[in-house]
Amino acid sequence: MQVITTCAEMTALCRETPRPLGLVPTMGALHEGHLSLTQQARADNATMAASIFVNPTQFGANEDFSTYPRSMERDLELLSAQGTDLVFAPLPDEVYPDGFDTWIEPGAVAEGMEGAARPGHFRGVATVVAKLFTITWPDRAYFGQKDGQQVAVIRKMNADLNLGVDVVTMPTIREPDGLALSSRNAYLTPEQRAAAPVVYRALRAAESLWHTGERNANRLQAAALAVLQAEPQISAVDYVSIVDAATMAPLNVLDERPAMIATAARLGSVRLIDNVVLL
Ligand code: PAJ
Repeated sequence: MQVITTCAEMTALCRETPRPLGLVPTMGALHEGHLSLTQQARADNATMAASIFVNPTQFGANEDFSTYPRSMERDLELLSAQGTDLVFAPLPDEVYPDGFDTWIEPGAVAEGMEGAARPGHFRGVATVVAKLFTITWPDRAYFGQKDGQQVAVIRKMNADLNLGVDVVTMPTIREPDGLALSSRNAYLTPEQRAAAPVVYRALRAAESLWHTGERNANRLQAAALAVLQAEPQISAVDYVSIVDAATMAPLNVLDERPAMIATAARLGSVRLIDNVVLL
C-alpha cells in the first residue's frame, strides 16, 4: 500500500495503475461503514484507492472541523488490511493552495435538508469530490446511502459535468440496535448513545406506515416526528423530509418513483442524520 500526499504524485500513479480503478473518498476516522465501501471497491476493481481528507470547505464556521476525529495511523492499518493499493492523504494546503478560487455549486438537489441546515456544505463536498475525481480519474467511486443527499448531489454533478465515473451507492451499515455508524457517534454521552437508535426507529415507523399503503407525505412525516419527539434525549429535530430519491425534490404524495425519508436530529450538541429509501 502506498500513501501519497501530493496531487501530482497521485495523478501520476493513477495513470499507470491497472484498471479498473475504484476510489473510496473518506474523511478518515474509519469504521465498518467506510470499510463496507472499501470491501466492495476491492472486489470490483484491479486497483483500489481510498482518500483520507478532512475537507475544511464542507464545514460551516460553527461546525466541528477542528475537533473532527482524526486517527491516521489506525486508518492506514485498516486500509492496509483491506488490501488498499493507494491511499491519498493530502494536507489542506495541497488541495486548496493559496489563491484557490473555483467552486462547484450544486443546484436544486442541494437546496433542502442538509443543504438548508448547513449552508455551503454541498458546495464544499461537490468541489472536493470533483477534485478527487479529476486527480485520480477513477472508473468507479463508492459512497454510502447513509449520506443520501450527498450521493444525489455527487450523481448529479457527475452527470451534469460528464465526469464519466460510475458512482456506486452502498447500503447504510448500522449497529445491532439500528444506529447508523458515524464518526460523530463518538461524541454521544452514554445516555445519548442509549437513546440514539430512536432516529432509525422513527424512520422505520414511517416506513411501516408506507408498507400498509399510506402515500401521504405529511402523515408519514408526522409518524416519524412523533417517535422522535417522544424521546427526551432528542433536543431538536432539524427536519423530517420526504423527497424524490434521485432529485431530492420534496413530495406531497408518494408514487411509484423511489422516495427517501430523511431526518436530522440533535441529541444535545450532537447532530445525527439518517434516511430510509422507500421502494
Ligand atoms: P465520511 O463521512 O468519512 O464518509 C465517507 C463515506 O462513507 C461516505 O460515502 C459515507 O456516506 C460513507 N459512510 C459513512 N457512514 C456510513 C455507514 N454507516 N454506512 C455506509 N456508508 C457510510 O462523506 C464524507 O466523508 C465526505 O463528505 C466526503 C464524500 C469524503 C467528501 O469530503
